Amino acid sequence: MNPSITIVVAMLATFCRCFNNDVLRALWKMSNEVATENFSDLKCVCLITERATGAENYMFPIEIPVYYVHLPLQVTKNAVRLSPDQFEEYSWDILLLEPINAGCLAYIVQTSDIGFMVKAFARLFHTPKAINRNNRKYLYLPEKHIQEQEFNSNIKRLFESREMDFMPDLVVARVIFNSSPSDVGIISPLISDVSSNFTIELFTHRFIGPKPQSSEPVYLDTWIPEKGLVRKTNLYPDKISNMMGKQLTLISLNYPPPAVARVVNGTQVYDGYEYRVVFEWAKRNNFTWKGICYPDEWWGEIYENGTGWGITGHVSMDEADVGFTVLYLWYRDFRFLDFSSNYHMSELTTILPKPKRLPEWSIIIAPFNYEMWLAVGGSVLLCSTLLYLAYKISLKLLGDDINLKMFSNWGWCFLCMTQILVEQAPDGNLNSNKKGHSAMRHLITWFILLYYLVTTAYAGGLACILTLPRYESPIDNIEQMADQNSKWGTSSDDCWIYFLKDSHNPKMRKVARNFIIGSDEFIGEMAEKAEMGFAVEKMMGGYFALPFYIHERTMKKLRLMKEPYTAQHTVFHVRKGSPYKKSLNVNLQRARDAGLFHFWEGLAARNYLNFRDQLSVITSNAQEEPDTTPLHVQHITVS
Ligand SMILES: *[C@@H]1O[C@H](CO)[C@@H](O)[C@H](O)[C@H]1NC(C)=O
Ligand SMILES: *[C@@H]1O[C@H](CO)[C@@H](O)[C@H](O)[C@H]1NC(C)=O
Ligand SMILES: *[C@@H]1O[C@H](CO)[C@@H](O)[C@H](O)[C@H]1NC(C)=O
Ligand SMILES: *[C@@H]1O[C@H](CO)[C@@H](O)[C@H](O)[C@H]1NC(C)=O
Ligand SMILES: *[C@@H]1O[C@H](CO)[C@@H](O)[C@H](O)[C@H]1NC(C)=O
Repeated sequence: MNPSITIVVAMLATFCRCFNNDVLRALWKMSNEVATENFSDLKCVCLITERATGAENYMFPIEIPVYYVHLPLQVTKNAVRLSPDQFEEYSWDILLLEPINAGCLAYIVQTSDIGFMVKAFARLFHTPKAINRNNRKYLYLPEKHIQEQEFNSNIKRLFESREMDFMPDLVVARVIFNSSPSDVGIISPLISDVSSNFTIELFTHRFIGPKPQSSEPVYLDTWIPEKGLVRKTNLYPDKISNMMGKQLTLISLNYPPPAVARVVNGTQVYDGYEYRVVFEWAKRNNFTWKGICYPDEWWGEIYENGTGWGITGHVSMDEADVGFTVLYLWYRDFRFLDFSSNYHMSELTTILPKPKRLPEWSIIIAPFNYEMWLAVGGSVLLCSTLLYLAYKISLKLLGDDINLKMFSNWGWCFLCMTQILVEQAPDGNLNSNKKGHSAMRHLITWFILLYYLVTTAYAGGLACILTLPRYESPIDNIEQMADQNSKWGTSSDDCWIYFLKDSHNPKMRKVARNFIIGSDEFIGEMAEKAEMGFAVEKMMGGYFALPFYIHERTMKKLRLMKEPYTAQHTVFHVRKGSPYKKSLNVNLQRARDAGLFHFWEGLAARNYLNFRDQLSVITSNAQEEPDTTPLHVQHITVS
């Protein structure tokens, strides 16, 4: 035999600490028992192995559908990232996305690198390609024997990682050999069993409680070959309903009335109806929370690679567990995040400059509109022509010696018609004894009758206009905004219009193009001058979340658009498949059923909003003109 090969084989024999068949059989038998006990009511289970370790021989038969994925370590570790600017993905993802999207909620993973697999799951549940959104259960099995110290430091690092905050149902198994004294489980009580020379210890992370303690390993149970679990502990206890002071991170804006996050008298204050539901939830599930707020980033955006900014971006990057502040059900975010059930509504609308008064000279033409004026002008021309023709024909047919000068050419006929238009009978010498004259008299009488109607209509219109001031036509909905090409904007971000930009309706796209995102100074100045419109949000209870530049003074020149341009349900954002979603939904539903959101909205409005500003917006449509008086009887009686 070649000596070098001998050396390699010898090295392998020394360093591979692979388990023998007894241990492997025991691991799979235990997995079978755990799956039968705890996963039997799930739709399916996913089994992932790195090597062929006999799972198919010892794990099956089992009465649950199982996806068996064989994923060698070299394949996963050496894969290159596809498309660097998209969400992180590798060619082997497809193998795991299949069971994920089939709805498997339990994963039995035999791996030599638990940390890597945990990160892979966190990424795969986050990608837009993962459709199923649920909290999952995990059972991690060892692949080979690892030194005590190395194993402990790996587990410590794993349990301190951020991923553990959204994977409460995780059980790690390790094999303890009775023969080697260094292999005593540090966290398990000593269970010596004469009939077998190894046992399998199961543990999890504490999860509940404040930070350093929540990362501690917690001993669950020991599995002994031929006997099974010693203590019959529940391996997947409910860790959410009492979190014992675990800290969740909340992200919001300072945007009363839904969320108030501001410093009052030197202390940070959190309030608003969305914070209040979190307070109730925190009380019920016994957790603490930390509020974060990036006021300049507003609602933000999630990039295709899963990172982002603002509320949605920070929830997507797992920097916050829960995000809120009137977030809508937007598909753009739904691909990367999970939504709670909806609990309240809000409307987006616009505050626009008041319609201006029409100039005084326009009163003369105001009684008729453009088409009517055209019709009157056209009819005068037409009637002049008819008169001229009628005169020519009667001259020919009746052959009388009429020869009136006033009908002798078209110009005179036109002059005659204009006279009739202003209610003046033409003063020709129309002699009733002459046949031709008589016919013309008939015709002219009919024309006088026709223009009498027109003149009366004009006079009636004028009387009406002199009584009421005239304005430009007002903008009451988004179509009219598009028709009048009115500019509008905000100093926050494009959340106000991003769904209009992709609309199929060209008018909506036009409105979106007219939207301006300006600096605080610029928009503030525009509001003072009332030169454009401003996007505002109205809550379901009727209160407005007003930006700083909309207040009583600026509202003097502005008015609220009558119809909102969108109205939507609002939700909380959490991580995709977050374990907190279920309990959050329960608390939202309770508060909604009790009508608390309306109550809390009013409370926040009273405490944090300026009522004069609110009132100036609400009444902006019904303001009186300073120089008009109501019509009284003495105005129309002759004294
Ligand atoms: C898991 O199985 C154990 C033993 O039968 C049982 O006590 C426990 O309630 C189960 N847990 C779940 C979450 O099904
Ligand atoms: C375990 O004990 C059995 C006999 O009880 C023995 O055959 C086997 O070699 C032992 N295995 C180890 C790894 O010590
Ligand atoms: C809630 O958590 C605290 C620790 O933050 C703990 O002292 C208290 O006992 C818990 N309450 C309940 C009802 O378990
Ligand atoms: C802030 O301090 C002032 C003066 O000390 C006090 O009048 C006011 O009530 C305080 N406001 C709040 C919200 O505590
Ligand atoms: C994600 O994409 C954005 C914009 O395309 C880019 O600015 C950012 O650096 C990317 N982040 C990472 C981690 O690749």
